[in-house]
Amino acid sequence: MSNKAIITENLGKRYKLGETLNFSRTIREAIVEFPRKFMSEAKRKAFEIRERKNNPDYDPETPPGTFWALRHLNLEINHSDVVGIIGSNGSGKSTLLKVLSKITIPTTGHAKVYGRVGSLLEVGTGFHPDLTGRENIFLNGSIMGMSKADIKMRFDEIVAFSEVEKFLDTPIKRYSSGMTVRLAFAVAAHLEPEILIVDEVLAVGDAAFQNKCMGKMKDVSSEGRTVLFVSHNMSAVRSLCSRGILLKNGKIVVDTTINEAISHYNDTLDEKANDAQLLWKEGEMPGDDYVQLIEAQLLSETGVNKTIFDTDEQIKIRLKYKSLKNNKDLRFAVKLSSIEGETVFQSTDQIFRNSENSGAGLYTTEVDIPNRLLNSKHYQISLWAGTPKVKRHIPEMLLFKLSVVGKVYNGSRLDDRQPWPGIVSPELKWKILKID
Ligand SMILES: Nc1ncnc2c1ncn2[C@@H]1O[C@H](COP(=O)(O)OP(=O)(O)OP(=O)(O)O)[C@@H](O)[C@H]1O
Ligand SMILES: [Mg+2]
Repeated sequence: MSNKAIITENLGKRYKLGETLNFSRTIREAIVEFPRKFMSEAKRKAFEIRERKNNPDYDPETPPGTFWALRHLNLEINHSDVVGIIGSNGSGKSTLLKVLSKITIPTTGHAKVYGRVGSLLEVGTGFHPDLTGRENIFLNGSIMGMSKADIKMRFDEIVAFSEVEKFLDTPIKRYSSGMTVRLAFAVAAHLEPEILIVDEVLAVGDAAFQNKCMGKMKDVSSEGRTVLFVSHNMSAVRSLCSRGILLKNGKIVVDTTINEAISHYNDTLDEKANDAQLLWKEGEMPGDDYVQLIEAQLLSETGVNKTIFDTDEQIKIRLKYKSLKNNKDLRFAVKLSSIEGETVFQSTDQIFRNSENSGAGLYTTEVDIPNRLLNSKHYQISLWAGTPKVKRHIPEMLLFKLSVVGKVYNGSRLDDRQPWPGIVSPELKWKILKID
């Protein structure tokens, strides 16, 4: 038997935007979308070319008024992996768990789940409100594929764990949210699931019940079952899980050890929205009486400030500065390092300077890091400016922390599931010749 518990391929879930819906555009889009469904392939292509011309941001897969809660998710989880899924609000954690538990269907790709799943998602999912606690235990058990006899065997355990014995014959709709979660957790964890999926339940129960749940999940994982656990409580995630997946905007930022994933998550919490653009006020600009740095930006090819790039994207660093003297030997240098501080490369604009671009005045200097070079990892960029052998006008300073995500191109291996080791992952061309 394969050791895989879960495999997802190009998994995506697209939702309609709620409040941010642009009504007039949506009506237009609806009118345009409808006949498009019935167009021939050739006509559809022509239509897309025309739309693209009119609107450079046109993406046929993301019609206006929609967004991707999950996108291009390739994931492999082995049996007995204990995985923490973390990320800020709206990053797609619950959506992923719902797709894996077959509560919602994906828009693209698919998820294969090998084994009996016990899941505890939002309060109430999986329970029928009009049925009693007792009936719901049997209903859930049979949905999980257990026989009546098996469920009966575990019934007392479930009731004891949930502490809702008195209300067993009351319909679930009369339960408080705390009681519902108690029963739901007891059911999910005690019906011998091969894969236990738990979403943020610990926030609902009281502290004693939370500890009890953590203990139960540890038992389940130590029996060699697969556990997927979503929580904003980092110490709970850390104590239970060994592997960590950090989601951001529906994509995997890192899939690594739980400690590393949490530290990346903490880094992103520190991030301010304008982190990809640093602006200094007069009097605070780094520099001296030769040169002063006004602005530093990290940009996509299309000029958008950002700190998360796809491996397919070029990364632009743009610096704006004031040269106060005619100093043709001035040069700016940048250094790209891994987040752990290992230098990947340094680069300077020195040889690109000439009499035309070195007098006093206002300038920008920019450089592009090619796409398909960096690995799917976290990096940092620092900068300095100086005159060779004379002095540093701007001492080395850390500018940006950035993440590269997506497919990695080691050799011709196209795989974004498990990045290969290495600080960089350039796209290299191989040539294979038969000589005999
Ligand atoms: N049924 C739905 N219809 C439209 N949008 C939805 C739906 N369900 C979720 N979303 C949106 O999808 C995005 C991802 O939501 P999801 O619930 O997966 O996030 P999450 O990571 O679980 O967040 P949290 O930490 O707040 O629980 C959010 O922007 C959310 O508003
Ligand atoms: Mg959620």
